[in-house]
Amino acid sequence: MSSLFDPLQLGAIRAANRVLMAPLTRARATRDHVPTPIMADYYRQRASAGLIISEATGISRQGLGWPYAPGLWSDEQVAAWRPVTAAVHEAGGRIVAQLWHMGRAVHSSVTGEQPVSASASATPGDAHTYEGKAPYEQARPLAVEEIPGVIADYVRAAKNALAAGFDGVQIHAANGYLIDQFLRDGSNRRTDDYGGSIENRVRLLREVTQAVVDAIGADRVSVRLSPNGDSQGVDDSNPAELFAAAAKMLQDIGIAFLELREPGPDGTFGATDVPRQSPVIRQHFSGPLILNSDYTPERAQRDLESGLADGVSFGRAFLANPDLPKRLETGAALNAPNMATLYAQGPEGYTDYPALEKAA
Ligand SMILES: Cc1cc2nc3c(=O)[nH]c(=O)nc-3n(C[C@H](O)[C@H](O)[C@H](O)COP(=O)(O)O)c2cc1C
Repeated sequence: MSSLFDPLQLGAIRAANRVLMAPLTRARATRDHVPTPIMADYYRQRASAGLIISEATGISRQGLGWPYAPGLWSDEQVAAWRPVTAAVHEAGGRIVAQLWHMGRAVHSSVTGEQPVSASASATPGDAHTYEGKAPYEQARPLAVEEIPGVIADYVRAAKNALAAGFDGVQIHAANGYLIDQFLRDGSNRRTDDYGGSIENRVRLLREVTQAVVDAIGADRVSVRLSPNGDSQGVDDSNPAELFAAAAKMLQDIGIAFLELREPGPDGTFGATDVPRQSPVIRQHFSGPLILNSDYTPERAQRDLESGLADGVSFGRAFLANPDLPKRLETGAALNAPNMATLYAQGPEGYTDYPALEKAA
């Protein structure tokens, strides 16, 4: 019987336990999207995770609209990530880089150009910019001729991730960002090879994943999907069929693991009445499946025992509890996250959450 505290093989990566750290944007890089030394402290503190999935990290200037989020397209960024990954490794941990193109969910004041997406459309609501919140702008559809360049950006970022000392990458195909904008029919109204049928809407994810796998090996590549319900105005009319096809495709490519963000009807970070698709996806994906959103240790243990999940990733609990696996194992109380400092710069609400006292 698997326990949350048993090791788990994730492709080439040996996770010491099944309590993973979910990707969490924290906005502590520079304005030029270069990682800072404080990020090494933050990730080192959390190295007891079976695996850390890094904060979403831009693959290109075009794809990164989040103020002070890090990137992985320049040599300077690679050099600045090295102490971060080294700190995690010194502390016995493992870390993969989440590769991010935000598609239409950027603002031109951050990227310097009009947003791109599957189709001419806009994310509802307001974007984060350096000048505060500003309404999202209308995106232009990516031309078919531009898509190889976007795929090349993912490949460069994946190679850079390994050069920076990451143990692998996660392709961010969730939460209403570029790949998700192509996957789901609410935001993809293309009439070319990348739109219409499920096969066509899955094409960008397939091509990106295959190219990254060809570059760094399938055993170091994972994918994140958010199959149920609206994310930033991105939704699908038939998620079971779409995500079954995506899962089957990822299974055929042989990725190291698949992570799903699946809020429930009472979710506290997104909520939806659309059922979780993990039972369907599990039928098509036999590799390691990591589940996420509002997990308690009890629900995590149940999903491991039923075979639905191989591991669980924790987001807000991990940002507020650097030693989360130990706390879950011992039943210790959890620190509450400070929502006001989630995206603040500096150490407050970042590296100052207390760990349990070390045993004498
Ligand atoms: C501050 C914050 C930042 C987040 N940043 C990311 C991100 O960079 N990439 C991503 O895929 N999800 C991101 N998420 C979503 C989390 O990975 C996770 O899905 C969500 O917090 C639900 O899990 P939880 O209930 O364990 O917190 C973020 C969530 C929060 C609260």
